[in-house]
Amino acid sequence: MTQASPAPNAAAGATVTLTDNATGKKLDLPVIKGTVGPSVVDIRKLYGATGYFTFDPGYTATGSCESKITYIDGDQGILLHRGYSIEDLTEHCDFMEVCHLLLKGELPNAQQKAKFEDDVTRHTMLHEQISRFFTGFRRDAHPMAVLCGVVGALSAFYHDSLNIEDPHQRMIASYRLIAKMPTIAAMAYKYSIGQPFMYPRNDLNYAENFLYMTFGVPCEPYKVNPVVARALDKLFILHADHEQNASTSTVRLAGSSGANPFACIAAGIATLWGPAHGGANEAVLKMLAEIGSKDKVPEFIKRVKDKNEGVRLMGFGHRVYKNYDPRATVIRKDCHEVLNELGVKNEPLLEIAIELERIALQDEYFAQRKLFPNVDFYSGIIYKAMNFPTAMFTALFAVARTVGWIAQWNEMIEDPSQKIGRPRQLYTGPDRRPFVPLHKRA
Ligand code: CMC
Repeated sequence: MTQASPAPNAAAGATVTLTDNATGKKLDLPVIKGTVGPSVVDIRKLYGATGYFTFDPGYTATGSCESKITYIDGDQGILLHRGYSIEDLTEHCDFMEVCHLLLKGELPNAQQKAKFEDDVTRHTMLHEQISRFFTGFRRDAHPMAVLCGVVGALSAFYHDSLNIEDPHQRMIASYRLIAKMPTIAAMAYKYSIGQPFMYPRNDLNYAENFLYMTFGVPCEPYKVNPVVARALDKLFILHADHEQNASTSTVRLAGSSGANPFACIAAGIATLWGPAHGGANEAVLKMLAEIGSKDKVPEFIKRVKDKNEGVRLMGFGHRVYKNYDPRATVIRKDCHEVLNELGVKNEPLLEIAIELERIALQDEYFAQRKLFPNVDFYSGIIYKAMNFPTAMFTALFAVARTVGWIAQWNEMIEDPSQKIGRPRQLYTGPDRRPFVPLHKRA
């Protein structure tokens, strides 16, 4: 058994001393301090020195990497990208500026912004042959299934950006992924409803072009609603990055083996799909529809609190936020504005959501477990008002998160301390035992 004595302070040079009670041996483990937030205990020498691994299923207390991109203070409900608050970024920037910030470390000046937009938009089109991939899917395929397949397939088309050792090729692959994701997601939607694919329009901004490719048709002009486009742009900013979440960690892990960026992002998309992660926005809408009306909310909350029911309040709770998710605060505010603009009066699902939130926030069960609304609680209501089908919600998340994934992937490749990701385990299966030939097995 080991006991860890806490670091006397979290300054550089501080250590945590681990005492093995069985042998009396002591080991000083260095404490590394970040800019803000908890310091970390560097356990890289632990196994060599003691023969022990650490055990942390779900990585609840494990830092997997060093990063300069995103900072979250879950207790205070703070989210910063490269030091800028999510509130400032959503209020004052557009998505392309935030992409530049995440990818290159700084907000662009006007000239850099124009160049970056030009660099990205010149990659919005897909190789024409990729359109044939779509016809291989059933019309009712989930857009996330299509995204996983088509994004993975990009590596079969863009051979000139697969060399991960070459910074120029890495940047081209990054631009390609950011630029092509909306095209692919919009095509997945068009295919599902049997409408012709719309080629991207590079005179429109990122969100406008996505709306155009999704809702436009070749036989008549499409007028972008600026309120809707700005709201979608904000939603993209809110989803752009979120530190070492499950899908980002997947992208890093896949990339740590040297896999190409298109394959890594496809792995991230697959991870995002789950209802505990990006799939929650779709799950929230299904939940609200199932509840049906405001008066059924108390009954539903009762079921959530009954562990035998196995029902979760989707859009509530977060591994890191033990306070209101700052992204949910922004969305909640915008939700009413967008619904008003779109003439959606008395949206019953919004009424149910507000009632759910009101009751849950007063309830001891949720208070004790520090469960608050997260980003997905309100996003689906806005997407629905914008006319996106429920199945597209997680695809919208994937479009926005691509820049975060690719920024984290680039950071990992450039990190000299990076190694192939290879967790260890606590083995609890049988010890070595004699082999029994087939004819002697009971
Ligand atoms: N509804 C009811 N109870 C919950 C919920 C919920 N949404 N979330 C957590 N709990 C309870 C859970 O049952 C447990 O209770 P107890 O201690 O009595 O066993 C306690 O809270 C801790 O839960 P946990 O599962 O250990 O917490 P976690 O950090 O592993 O899970 C989570 C985080 C986000 C997966 C979880 O809160 C959840 O399933 N939420 C609903 C899905 C959701 O909205 N996901 C979107 C996350 S934000 C967007 C994104 O990052 O993708």
